Formats: sequence, C-alpha cells, structure tokens
Amino acid sequence: MDKLQIRNLSCSAEGNKIIRDLSLDIVKGDCLALLGPNGHGKSTLLNVLMGNPRYQVDSGSVLYDDEDLLKLTPDLRSKKGIFMAFQNPPDVPGVVSMDFFRAALNSHSDKPVSLFNFYKTTTKAYEEVGLDSEMASRYLNEGYSGGEKKRNEILQMLLLKPDLVLLDEIDSGLDVDAMALIASTIKTLKEQGTTFTIVSHYEKLFELVEPNRTAVIVNGRIAKEGDSSLAKKIASQGYSFLEKEFGINLTKENDKQQSIGVCAAKQVEKK
Ligand SMILES: Nc1ncnc2c1ncn2[C@@H]1O[C@H](COP(=O)(O)OP(=O)(O)OP(=O)(O)O)[C@@H](O)[C@H]1O
Ligand SMILES: [Mg+2]
Repeated sequence: MDKLQIRNLSCSAEGNKIIRDLSLDIVKGDCLALLGPNGHGKSTLLNVLMGNPRYQVDSGSVLYDDEDLLKLTPDLRSKKGIFMAFQNPPDVPGVVSMDFFRAALNSHSDKPVSLFNFYKTTTKAYEEVGLDSEMASRYLNEGYSGGEKKRNEILQMLLLKPDLVLLDEIDSGLDVDAMALIASTIKTLKEQGTTFTIVSHYEKLFELVEPNRTAVIVNGRIAKEGDSSLAKKIASQGYSFLEKEFGINLTKENDKQQSIGVCAAKQVEKK
C-alpha cells in the first residue's frame, strides 16, 4: 500500500454516533500511535477500516491506494493487505486454529499452500510468538489466557504478511517478556516496510517500537496530531493538557440518534 486516506468519515453503531467527521492520512512506512481516552472511538475506527458490519458508515470516504475501501467486503480488504488484531479476540469454538490459519493462507494465495510449507511456516510463527505449536490443534482462542490470545493475533499477522497492520491494544495483558518479543516483531516488520497503526494506552510499547507519528481521537474526531513527542507528553501528563493548551473539550459527547424505541416511549409518556 502507498496511502490510506480517510476523509470526513462519520460512523455509528446501534444509533450512537461514534466517529464524527474524521479525516486522517496514513502513508507507507508510517508507524502511527493512535491515542485517545476510553470510549472515544479508536476501536470503532479500526473496525470500520476492516469492514466490521456492526458499524454503519454514515458519510465520508476511505481511499486505499485510490480505491474505495468502503465498497470492499472484509475478506477483500484482508486480501488487499490490511490486517487487524482485535482488542478482544473472540473465541471461536468448533474452529480448529490450524484449519483456520490454513483457510486464511489459502484464500490469500493463488494455489493452496502445501502441507509441508504450512507446517514449516506455522511452526516458525508459533516459535516467534513464544506459543506452543500444540495449540494449533485447539479451537481458536477458546480457553486461551489473555496474553495467549494477544500472541495468537501476532502469529496471524506473521502468517498473513500484511502491508497495513492495525493493532488494537495488542499490549494489554502481555507479560514483560511477551511485550519485548512482540515489540521486536513489530520493529522487524516495520524495517521491512510494513505500515502500522497502533492503539495503546501505555508508553512502554511506544518506547520500544518508536512510532513516527501520533494522532489523538477525542469524541470521534482527530483532535490533535504530532510526532512521537505527543504520545510521550500524553503518557507523562495525561489528556488534560489538550484541554488547557488547545481548548479541546474532553467531555464525552452523546448525541444518540432518535430510535424508534425512544419515539415510541415518548408517545406513551404523552398519553
Ligand atoms: N456496537 C456498538 N453498539 C453501541 N455502542 C457502541 C458499539 N461499539 C462501540 N460503541 C460505543 O462507542 C464508543 C466508542 O467505543 P470504542 O470501542 O471505539 O472506544 P475506544 O476509544 O476504543 O475505547 P477504549 O480505549 O476503552 O478501548 C463507546 O462509548 C462505546 O460504548
Ligand atoms: Mg478500544
């Protein structure tokens, strides 16, 4: 990928406006630290970029190398090289990890991956993320510890070799060694030209992976952009300086769109 251009994007879920007129560019080689207080729309933005059907795009556009990304189904977005690691990876009972990985790899290539190559690649990836490759025979994420789930997300990133990686709080629940391991994997891919957008609440990961840019989401908008020093300042001072220095209102806006339920309740009230 060369660039991702988000323009005046507004999105909602279940009648709640979450992303509001948000514009952001991500260019090849960027490692963007995406910050923002809890509940202000970071995960929503990543989910919308990946095409999660729970979120509705109300207006705006997203161009991925000049192609309309919003028209593509999630599988096509993945085939175009976009990968997202979930904040809360879901359990998928009944789906064996190995089968899932193989299906994902096959759908990303013209001909099916040979059993030998698949075995070699997955064994190496399991080693790289510090998980026992025996886990490949278990159902996806079922019964995994928090840290194992996060390592398993990174494992999928290694298998699929994406161009644009969206990491949603990949560091939450990781022990110190896992954090160092994952940071070094990110750094290696970064050096190979992979583009990253990393959501995290902790400075530690950013210290290790050294993002070149920071963007802060407040109330579903990009309230502030800067270089890596902005992430450092937030880590040391919290978000309140944005209010003091730049007049950015941190109070959560809540303009729920009127739903049929609300109207009906009001009508009953009037009677
Ligand atoms: N499917 C949904 N239905 C209704 N509301 C939703 C849905 N998904 C997200 N929201 C709401 O949208 C807001 C933004 O949520 P989001 O998960 O994007 O926040 P976040 O910035 O990632 O927060 P955190 O740092 O806590 O992970 C929250 O108030 C959340 O409750
Ligand atoms: Mg989130």
